[in-house]
Parts: sequence; structure tokens; C-alpha cells
Amino acid sequence: MLKLARLSLLLIFLSGATFCLKAQNAVTIPIETKTNALVLQTDKDNRLGTIYFGKKLLLTSENAKISQAYPYNDPNGGIYNSAYTPSGSWNLLEPAIQVTHSDGTTSLELKYVSHQVQKIDENVSQISILLKDPAYPVEVTLWYKVYAQENVIEQWTVIKHIEKKNITLQKYASANLYFTADNYILHHYHGAWGREMHPEETLLTAGIKTLDSKLGTRANLFQPPTFMLSFDRQATEEEGKVLLGTLAWSGNFKLDFEVDSYHNLRMIGGINPHASEYSLAPNQEFKTPSFISTFSEHGKGEASRNMHNWARKYRILDGEGSRLTLLNNWEATYFDFDEQKLSGLFKGAKQLGVDMFLLDDGWFANKYPRNDDFAGLGDWQENRKKLPNGIGYLVKEATKAGVKFGIWVEPEMVNPKSELYEKHLDWVIREPQRPEHYFRNQLPLDLSNPEVQDFVYGVLDNLFTKNPDLAFIKWDCNAVVYNGHSMFLQKQGLPQTHLYVEYVRGLYKVLERIRAKYPKVPMMLCSGGGGRVDYEALKYFTEFWLSDNTDPLERVFIQYENSYFYPAITPRNHITDRSKVGLKYRTDVAMMGKMGYDIVVSNLTEQELTFSQKALENYKNINSLVWKGDLYRLQSPWEKAYASLMFTDAAQSHAVMFNYLTTNRFDMVYSPTPIKLKGLNPTKNYRVTEINLFPGTSSTLNADLVYSGDYLMNIGVNPDMGLKRTSVILEITEVK
Ligand code: GLA
Repeated sequence: MLKLARLSLLLIFLSGATFCLKAQNAVTIPIETKTNALVLQTDKDNRLGTIYFGKKLLLTSENAKISQAYPYNDPNGGIYNSAYTPSGSWNLLEPAIQVTHSDGTTSLELKYVSHQVQKIDENVSQISILLKDPAYPVEVTLWYKVYAQENVIEQWTVIKHIEKKNITLQKYASANLYFTADNYILHHYHGAWGREMHPEETLLTAGIKTLDSKLGTRANLFQPPTFMLSFDRQATEEEGKVLLGTLAWSGNFKLDFEVDSYHNLRMIGGINPHASEYSLAPNQEFKTPSFISTFSEHGKGEASRNMHNWARKYRILDGEGSRLTLLNNWEATYFDFDEQKLSGLFKGAKQLGVDMFLLDDGWFANKYPRNDDFAGLGDWQENRKKLPNGIGYLVKEATKAGVKFGIWVEPEMVNPKSELYEKHLDWVIREPQRPEHYFRNQLPLDLSNPEVQDFVYGVLDNLFTKNPDLAFIKWDCNAVVYNGHSMFLQKQGLPQTHLYVEYVRGLYKVLERIRAKYPKVPMMLCSGGGGRVDYEALKYFTEFWLSDNTDPLERVFIQYENSYFYPAITPRNHITDRSKVGLKYRTDVAMMGKMGYDIVVSNLTEQELTFSQKALENYKNINSLVWKGDLYRLQSPWEKAYASLMFTDAAQSHAVMFNYLTTNRFDMVYSPTPIKLKGLNPTKNYRVTEINLFPGTSSTLNADLVYSGDYLMNIGVNPDMGLKRTSVILEITEVK
């Protein structure tokens, strides 16, 4: 009976498919933002291809003609432009999807069936396109969420089947884009701990260039899934065609850039299929993460402002809200603190004028106290020796001192020297047959296991339940996955190759639960620096730590590159004592994002304290510009010996300009010509005032002059940078 029912279901499915797959006139599907279009079209065999990507045509009706101008219909090469390239049928290039059917067959064909357009609101619409294999009951739905004003497209894919048994997904990309241009120049990043976001640029030549991660957790340690792609020629801030792309996934990723034999570019991006074959049960849906992109014909500046606007409005938790300034104790004390020392720091925080104190690593574990990074991770009870009165007492003391209290956790990890490890070896990602290999003396817990998810959720839930006034969480993740093996998957009879995917899904389940109960508490994402940041995680986090490297000179470069992808409301920048560079420079650099401190306030000289207190007041005046304004990069530090950036408000009445010298070589004027401002109103008048001056110094600029926006954007201002003025912040205010 059951068998019969299944068979008839299959027949309905197949007959439906056959009906829809009959040859028909070409279907053209424009996916349009305010200025751009991605146009898809069926060919004579009903395969869906990309026929256009770029500025949208004035007449949408002309989209249908585009394909006749390109030789995509070559009988051998015709599948190059597939909107989602299947593997094993007649495709010879990199596939977007690769499947082994339940009968062992490895070929897949995908044909257009139908599509739907759904308007969510004035700005946002969603297009879904159903593709099916004519021979096997496997279907793929391509989803495109269009944010028109921001020119952002978010796309993902859902894979489903009703074969009798599981099918295996060898590859399951999120996006498969196709571009035509004279040249493709890829701007991407690599790095390591403390050296995040180092840019690389390359002209793509025939063959495949891959950006990927196989690290599992801390997946961005060597490279993030973010890139810029210039078409024809190198885009500048103001000119040229450029695409900014990124994968919203906190795990292994793979982005392939393949220049085909027509010199067109295929971009296929998604979860890294490495060691991640996925066994998909009938009727189960496999939803890929989102690939997010924005395209501009007017350079990287506009593209990144579009990305920022989208991220603040639609993605980052409380992206249009405000943020807390803080004093962190990590570099000030490391693991060496007690209640008394911390109380002293609370007072320092208040004296300085920040909103909050953040207690970092080292506050927990008793049997194996967390006095260094060799022990205690996993045992989330207050260390009785350091904190005999617990966190509750600290929260009260901080409140008494006049600051809020936040705390560091790293709940996904365990030190082998811990009670958790002794009790729950089965929760640890490790290969029982092999010696353990550690990253920072620790191992990740197996988040594919629901019990582990409960545990991780519980770490946060206990802290909040016991301390309802906790104001902030720093969520760290310091280790990568070695010997990726899950006892849980083994017990469930599930393939080990699900681990990398299920780990990340498990993480999101935990974060979902946390946000359901604690929707607003600000949380910072940290991963030994910038080892984990992406637009899926930022649904749950308000900010992130982009590097443990707090040397301000290095930060100028790291922050500059990061600014293309993430708005300045997200990266937390701390002023620390790590570098001998003067306090003003350190402070000025921290101000171009979310400013914070990691110092012992009582070690500051009187002048330094006065300067810092005033800087925090200045920051209050300009923080909404930095967090919510339009960012214009005026000078790249890679091209000259200084960096210059500015943020303007929407009304074009208030702006701030940051200038940082990046050399200490010669005592000379490093800005011999003025720097042209951007984003102002040419017909408005402005005053330019230098702020954040160190006590005892005065500005070399004339604050009495009034300039038109036209003057400031065509002639500019000269911040007068040299070895005596290594950083200059200018506030630009409209004069009515
Ligand atoms: C990581 C973080 C640091 C600090 C330490 C604590 O390295 O990036 O900011 O929190 O962990 O162990």
C-alpha cells in the first residue's frame, strides 16, 4: 500500500515535470536592482543560462534579445553560462552541483520548470526558479533576494529529491554567476593571526583560481570569503565596474573563478565540498548559505557604500542602533587578575568615560584553573580564588563604579586539561585512532551534537540568568578543526562527511536560541582576531574583533581593507599599550570604527588621561557619522605614505575626515597637495575644525575659514601631515 502511494507520488512528480519541461519559447528572467540586472534565459532545450550581468537596460523588453549577441549556443560550450551548472551530463567545466543518485548514476541535468516573483515590500523582492532533472526526481530551486535601492542581491539554492533512497551531494554551491568582460581583476585577501586582510590582486587568466578554507571553525584565519572583482580594467574608488562578493557562512567555503574558452568568467561559490559529501534523504531540503553581492559601474566606493547600507539595514543585529564604548582587560592583565585588581579597572573605566568594562579570558574553572591558555576551557564556573564572590559581585561593583559589565566566553571549545574533557570526551571533535593535535592547546566541541548545542546555549543562558544585568558578550573561537571526527554522527550512523556542515548549522541553532531569549544584548564575534566574520554570523552579533594586532600602524591597513565589506559600526578597534606609538595616533586610528580601550588607566599620564577623556567626548559627537554615515576612501595607504578617509551624514551637513601617516622615515610634509573631500553638497558652506588635539599642541589649520562644498571637493584641505603631525582628524560642519 505504502509502496503504491510512493509510486503514485513519484508519477505525479514526474508527469508534472514532463508537462512543464516541454519545449517552449525562451523564458527570460530579469533579476533587477535599482541600476543593475542579472538576466537569465532558457535555451532551446530549456536549460537556464545567464545572458547578462551589468547595468540594466532602459527597456526591460530588450533583455530577451541579448543572447543573440553572444555565442553561448555553441554545441560544446553552451553550458558555460549555466545559471547552476550540473555535473556529469554534458558539462565539462567546474560544476555548481554534483550528485550521485541512489542508483549510483553520477550525471545530473537541470531544466527550467517555472519561476515566481514575490514582492516583499517596496524595496525587497524574491525570485525563485525551479529546475528539474528530466530523468531523475531531483529538483533545484534558485533563490534571489533583491534589495533594489542598495543594489544588493542575496542568492542561495535549495536542493531536494524524491528518489527511493538517499542521494549524495558531492557539491552544492550557493551561486553560479557568469560575466563577460575584456579582463577580470580579482582583489582578495590572505593572512594569518595578527596579519588579517592582507590584499592580493591578480589578473585572472584561463583556468581556475580558487579562494577557499578547510579550517572548519575559525575558517577565515588564512583568507575570508570576501573579494572584489573589477571588469575590463582596475576599478578605482570612483570609477570602473566592480562586484563585491561574499559568502554568508561561518565555515569552510570555496569560491572558484574560472575563465572559460570564450574568455568569459564563471564564478561558483558556496560551502567547500572538501570532505563534505552530504547524504540527502528523500524529501529533505538542503539549503545552501547565501552568497551576497553588489555591483557598481562607479567604482569600489559606491559598491562598498551599497554593501554598508544593506548590511546596516537588513543584516547586522541592531545595525542601525548605537554601540557601547568599553575598557577591556585582556592586554592590561591577561590572566593575572583578582576582584581587587578588577575593581580598580572599573574605576579607571569610569574615569576615562567609557560605557562599559569587559572582563576577558581567565575568570573561570577550578579543578584546572584558567590561569593560562593550557587549562580550564569548558569549565564555565567562576574561579573561586580569583573571584570568590562570583560574577554577580563584579556586575554590582562595576555598576557602583558607574559602568556596565560585559564578559568573554569561548563556549565552543575545550582544553584537554578540563573537567568537561574528562566527563564528555564524546563531545570533543577528535579522531579516537589518532593522537590529538591542538590549536592553542584546545579542541572544538562537536556542535553537530544537540547535547553540545544545549551545553553551549547553557553557558550563555546561565550567565544571563544569574546576572540579568550583563551588558555585553565577547564570543571567541580560537581553534581550527584537526582530525575532524564526530562521535555523535558515528553513533547516529550518519556520515562523518556531514561534520563541517552540521557544525555550522549547530552553531546557528544555538545563536538562534540565544537571540530568541536575549534579542538585544550586544555580542562581539571574535576568533583569535578576525578568524570568523561573515554576514550570516552578523545576524546574531552586533560587532566583531578584526584582529588581535592592535599596533595602530598595522590597523590602518587592516581597517582600510575591511572597510570595503563591513560598515564601521561593526569592527571594534581598541587602543592598547602594545605599540610604542603615541597615544594620539592610537586613539585616532581606533576612532574610525567602534572605539574601545585595553589599557591600565592609572598608568596614563595626566595629559594622556585628559586627552583620552576629551577624545571620548569627541567620539560621542562623531560616532553617528562613523557608524551610520557614508564612507569615502580618499587616499589608500598602499599608494602613498598616508591614508585618508571620511564619513558624511545623509544630510551632507556634518562629516569627519581621518588622516593617518603610515611612515616614520623623513621629516617632511607628507601631504604637499590638498586632499579632495567627497560626499559634501557643493552649494553648502562648511567649517573645517581639527579635533582630538593632544594637550599642549595646537592645530596648524585655520579654523576660521569657511569653505563651500564645491571648494572642498575640488581643491580640498591639507591636513598638514608630517612626523610631528602623524594623525589628523578634521570635523567638517555646515555653516548656515
Ligand atoms: C583571543 C582573542 C583575544 C583574547 C584572547 C583571550 O586571542 O582574540 O582578544 O580575548 O583570545 O584568550
